[in-house]
Amino acid sequence: MDITLIYFSQTGNTRRIAEAMAEVFRGAGHATRLVSLKKASPQDAVAGDLLGIGTPCFSSQAPTPIKAFLKNLPALESKRAFVFATSGGAPGRVLFDLTRLLQDKGADVVGGFLTCGELHHPAPCLQGRMPDRPNADDFAQARRFAAAVIEHVSAGRTGAVAESHPDTFKPRGGFYDLVAFISTDDFLRLMLPEPKLDPARCNQCQWCVYECPIHNITLQPYPILGDHCIRCYRCLTGCPQKAFAADWRLGNLAVLTFYNTTFERWFGDLKPGERIY
Ligand SMILES: Cc1cc2nc3c(=O)[nH]c(=O)nc-3n(C[C@H](O)[C@H](O)[C@H](O)COP(=O)(O)O)c2cc1C
Ligand code: SF4
Ligand code: SF4
Repeated sequence: MDITLIYFSQTGNTRRIAEAMAEVFRGAGHATRLVSLKKASPQDAVAGDLLGIGTPCFSSQAPTPIKAFLKNLPALESKRAFVFATSGGAPGRVLFDLTRLLQDKGADVVGGFLTCGELHHPAPCLQGRMPDRPNADDFAQARRFAAAVIEHVSAGRTGAVAESHPDTFKPRGGFYDLVAFISTDDFLRLMLPEPKLDPARCNQCQWCVYECPIHNITLQPYPILGDHCIRCYRCLTGCPQKAFAADWRLGNLAVLTFYNTTFERWFGDLKPGERIY
């Protein structure tokens, strides 16, 4: 089988899960391509026999760049597909978003995998959450899921892979679905601070221009943010010169209201006793 895994990953968690799955597929003798969303074309999704789509969770849903990519695909004509995601414990509808968008294109989604990933978010209340995730157990589960997918598809079985996360095929419902519903890009721009540049620190290396997932930064001659920022904070957390900063006095309160550990335990994906910090 020819397998293509297309992943969106800003801090490497989802990419490393994709790599673990790819190892399993290759080990079973299947030609497997790993394609970062930055370099992916619609043709990458159309080619091959099995398609995997992976993403982190942003604001309890699939991030705008991966949604836009899936919306712009041509018909997938019953192509077999699976989805996977990493989150900080409040995944909301991330898996279902991917499934629904693939199904809208006619794909036959056979399963979904969800695990946790360390947070690299600048809001003070989130910094350092989920240390060292995904960990050895998470990778082992990802490998087991990949093996189950390959067995299911190779045997020509219909329906869902038994190991699938239940969120894959129906929205989780409840609090974080509501949070996802209200957390449009416009709402996030209103509630969360915009990264602000300190030109004295910037050496105009252009890293942020390349890394912004929605091409919202231009160099003129220092980085200027356009109007479409999705508040992913990649420019802020990744700039080698630490040239961006944000004022979290109000935004931190907004984030903590929705993503405090009590709510994440009640309504999210945190298991009892799971280490958060
Ligand atoms: C801007 C942003 C928003 C996030 N929103 C959520 C969220 O709503 N719920 C959640 O559980 N995790 C959230 N996370 C955590 C990420 O989903 C998690 O750290 C993920 O593993 C990052 O994947 P990556 O390393 O592949 O980019 C957020 C992270 C960032 C940077
Ligand atoms: S990544 Fe940092 S140093 Fe490089 S251009 Fe952007 S702001 Fe300047
Ligand atoms: S400007 Fe920065 S925070 Fe906004 S979308 Fe681009 S990388 Fe993310």
